[in-house]
Amino acid sequence: MSSKLIEVNGLTKVFRVGSLFSRVRLTAVDNVSFDIKDADIYTLAGESGSGKTTVSRIILGLLEASEGEILYKGKNIMNIKSEREKKEFRKDVQAIFQNPFETFNPLRTVENYLYETQKNFLGVDASDSIDGIEQALTAVGLTLDDVKEKYPSEFSGGQLQRISIARALITQPSLLIADEPVSMVDASLRMSIVNLFKELKDRYGLSVLYITHDLATAYYVSDKIAIMFRGNIVEKGSVEKVLDSPKHPYTKMLKESIAQPDPRDKWDSRVDLHLTEREEYMLKGCKFAGRCPHVMERCRTEEIPDFDIDGVTVKCLLYQ
Ligand SMILES: Nc1ncnc2c1ncn2[C@@H]1O[C@H](COP(=O)(O)OP(=O)(O)OP(=O)(O)O)[C@@H](O)[C@H]1O
Ligand SMILES: [Mg+2]
Repeated sequence: MSSKLIEVNGLTKVFRVGSLFSRVRLTAVDNVSFDIKDADIYTLAGESGSGKTTVSRIILGLLEASEGEILYKGKNIMNIKSEREKKEFRKDVQAIFQNPFETFNPLRTVENYLYETQKNFLGVDASDSIDGIEQALTAVGLTLDDVKEKYPSEFSGGQLQRISIARALITQPSLLIADEPVSMVDASLRMSIVNLFKELKDRYGLSVLYITHDLATAYYVSDKIAIMFRGNIVEKGSVEKVLDSPKHPYTKMLKESIAQPDPRDKWDSRVDLHLTEREEYMLKGCKFAGRCPHVMERCRTEEIPDFDIDGVTVKCLLYQ
């Protein structure tokens, strides 16, 4: 039995949005809970504007939560005050971003950037040792020669994303948080990059929080999945259970669109466009009510609890 690496409990983030005279509260993340075990790949999936990035930014400490707690290795990270502990956390939890060209400074060689990461986090000068850097590059299928004296612009998006994963590995983290890491990578290379996560998990026991629109790569790579919609996790459980036999009407809709070449287009075009994203966020009761083929009157008025059914958690009154 592997233990919990990170536990997110009741995470909520309220933004104040709108113009100065018509401020409204938008609960971008609403009472979200999930946990990631050691050597687990956990996917957060859902269409644009469902709160995925907000969750990841709060975990990374880039944004403050309105409510909830995050326990990392048993410690509430929201209470971390000392710089030493903050640095330790940043070393142990590394982020991979959507656009690798924004990860690297265009004016500096990639090689230098790797040296700097080693120096910053581990206090090791490149003149003393580059073993860790070589190992990190090997782990992503590259060598130091591949990056020597090269600038970010000399790589393709796919190669540079590989290098940004290597950069993250230099600190020997326990958790990678990867927000849409392959959406800007050429489609033919996506699987090979996502596959790296699997290799890292198997080889080093690394855990990954994988955020994506793409259910195909999610299905292939993840152990667990949580489907988000307008700030709520509407369904979560093992990836096989959730995607082989989806329960929530929203998950069903997503799965139907998986056969489409670009699910993102399909999801957005399928939408019943009566309500805007903002309006859906503002709904009482189930946020999916405006599009749900099974909607009942109660769905629009009641707070929807989670139901545990067949090892999966579903936020839908159909399963009461
Ligand atoms: N700083 C902010 N201020 C106000 N509203 C915000 C802020 N950040 C996010 N939001 C809103 O919160 C909601 C969730 O946004 P978020 O970026 O977390 O979604 P997402 O699931 O990551 O979407 P995408 O798939 O497009 O990346 C959106 O309605 C967004 O407009
Ligand atoms: Mg996002």
